[in-house]
Amino acid sequence: MSEGTFDNPEVVEIETDLLIIGGGMAACGTAFEAKRWAPEGARIIMVDKAAVDRSGAVAQGLSAINTYIGENTPEDYVRMVHADLMGITRDDLVYDVGRHVDDTVHLFEEWGLPIWKSKETEGIPLKDGGKPVRSGRWQIMINGESYKPIVAEAAKKAIGIENIYERVFIVKLLLDANEDNRIAGAIGFSVRENKIYVFKCNSCLLAGGGAVNIFRPRSTGEGQGRTWYPVWNAGSTYAMAVEAGAEMTMMENRFVPTRFKDGYGPVGAWFLLFKSKATNAYGEDYTVKNADMLKDFAPYDTAAVVPTCLRNHVMIKEMKEGRGPIFMDTPTAMKSLAETMTPQETKHLEAEAWEDFLDMCIGQASVWAGMNIRPEETASELMPTEPYLLGSHSGCCGIWVSGPEDLSSPAEWKWGYNRMTTVKGLFTAGDGVGASGHKFSSGSFTEGRIAGKNMVRFAQDHAGFKSEFKADIGELKEEIWRPVGNYLEHKDKTTAEDINPNYILPRMFQMRLQKAMDEYVAGTSTYYTTNETMLKIGLHLLDMLKEDAEHMRAKDLHELLRAWENYHRLRTAEVHLRHILFREETRYPGFFYRADFPDL
Ligand code: FAD
Ligand code: ADX
Repeated sequence: MSEGTFDNPEVVEIETDLLIIGGGMAACGTAFEAKRWAPEGARIIMVDKAAVDRSGAVAQGLSAINTYIGENTPEDYVRMVHADLMGITRDDLVYDVGRHVDDTVHLFEEWGLPIWKSKETEGIPLKDGGKPVRSGRWQIMINGESYKPIVAEAAKKAIGIENIYERVFIVKLLLDANEDNRIAGAIGFSVRENKIYVFKCNSCLLAGGGAVNIFRPRSTGEGQGRTWYPVWNAGSTYAMAVEAGAEMTMMENRFVPTRFKDGYGPVGAWFLLFKSKATNAYGEDYTVKNADMLKDFAPYDTAAVVPTCLRNHVMIKEMKEGRGPIFMDTPTAMKSLAETMTPQETKHLEAEAWEDFLDMCIGQASVWAGMNIRPEETASELMPTEPYLLGSHSGCCGIWVSGPEDLSSPAEWKWGYNRMTTVKGLFTAGDGVGASGHKFSSGSFTEGRIAGKNMVRFAQDHAGFKSEFKADIGELKEEIWRPVGNYLEHKDKTTAEDINPNYILPRMFQMRLQKAMDEYVAGTSTYYTTNETMLKIGLHLLDMLKEDAEHMRAKDLHELLRAWENYHRLRTAEVHLRHILFREETRYPGFFYRADFPDL
């Protein structure tokens, strides 16, 4: 085999029993658990587009673990998730995460993740009776800057670093030539070397996280690149699943997080731990003022925790009617907490306010520093962000999977192996699994573990399988490298290589996608509102964009990555749009409104 060049990449073929696509929380859970069940000699390979130590949503670290059952029951957890997601959830999948998640958190602690403890149980591990500091009923506080390296280390130790391919972007799943609807491998390319990788496998986990930058972000121009969910999760999970023919579920669902404006700093610790209140421009608590609005969305209005979308709903009304901006009243919250504190404890509290962001969303701490904001003195603006697609946080879009066999769930919820999609041998977890949000970091890792164990079982039950691809690898090589060809063929036809009628830059393509989604598919510029006519125009614009997708250019490997990320975004965007078109109701007010079907 020859060394690849930019116009002719080398094709490297690798065989494995289990293939893990992604290196995030779910993928690391799969690697860890699969190794425990795999027979001697079985090969497990993980492929991440980035470096596992700092990839995915936990890259910067986190300051809380949002799913720890502790003194609650898995049944309570199911009820909370069901209500927060407005009544359409797969309770079997949620329960399954709930009953196993604490074991995962205990492992994290054993691996070195510092978990805050009550004064009385300081130094005692959770599994031996240590009591966590809870910020909310489900959340526990951690010192989590190094959360991801700790979890990555466990995955690396389990399967061996020689089995981890970093900086390889998977573009497509490959189906089997001999058996219909059966996974046989995946194909992608290195973002550092001129190489295309072809993986042959018996079973495969698809866990590339959610989808970011499908909608025009609020941060444009000098702020571009700031988002809340991780920019590098480009909808690969959903796009590749759809192209392989997997059944999707709840793809209309999205998450519009309310965040500290411009830095996208999370609000959970402020609302729950610091007991802060948010107000409109006139100091009114809109959750009290607008409480009656929620009655339209009974029975979810009376849930123990008001659903996330409904919390947005009462806030957006204030902004729409000109009583914005919305403020997080950090000074009052800190003052009232300090009332019962010593000066030293108050200093510690101030440090915690900063650390919450330094642990998890450094950009927000930078905004505070750059804008001379002291949280103990200055209130901060909150803003509902652009929509994100995800299945592990406070949203639930994703892929339809088989559930646990031992629960009294309907037969059509457990037709196959736990967490297997409708494509035979293809599994998913974390943001990939639909209709079961609120897993967060701990639940995603847990779900990865569940998938990993079942992938091993699947591979053992199909030990005789020899993968042969339905697709032609030569043709795929050409398709993957087409943006490079577009560039090389046409670059000399203009004096400014970025301006050329023969190709479209991935950056321009992305802006066009984001504009269409924003204006027609309930983005920020219409206050998350759409209707059938708008959606159909949006679909037309996406169709036009699909034609131009063939003409994206790549002047280097980085741009090739950008081109394929955008292709995944486009696919995902279309699925989202079509599901919204199909759901003729406003199921998630505050996340999006079908103006032509305003009711539940
Ligand atoms: P990820 O962890 O995002 O992993 C996706 C992986 O796929 C990455 O390794 C990525 O590089 C890889 N990938 C993507 N596309 C491809 C491709 N085409 N080919 C190869 N690899 C690919 N949870 C909590 O418990 N507590 C919190 O306080 C908390 N706060 C959060 C704050 C922020 C700012 C964010 C963004 C998330 C937060 N979460 C929190 C949620 C948690 O991080 C996610 O629920 C979890 O990481 C989802 O796991 P996942 O494996 O599905 O995706
Ligand atoms: S984070 O994952 O980016 O940190 P966020 O800060 O919104 O997200 O939420 C952290 C946790 O707090 C989640 O479990 C979320 O559901 C919960 N949460 C956030 N705000 C509230 C609120 N106002 N009331 C109840 N729970 C909340």
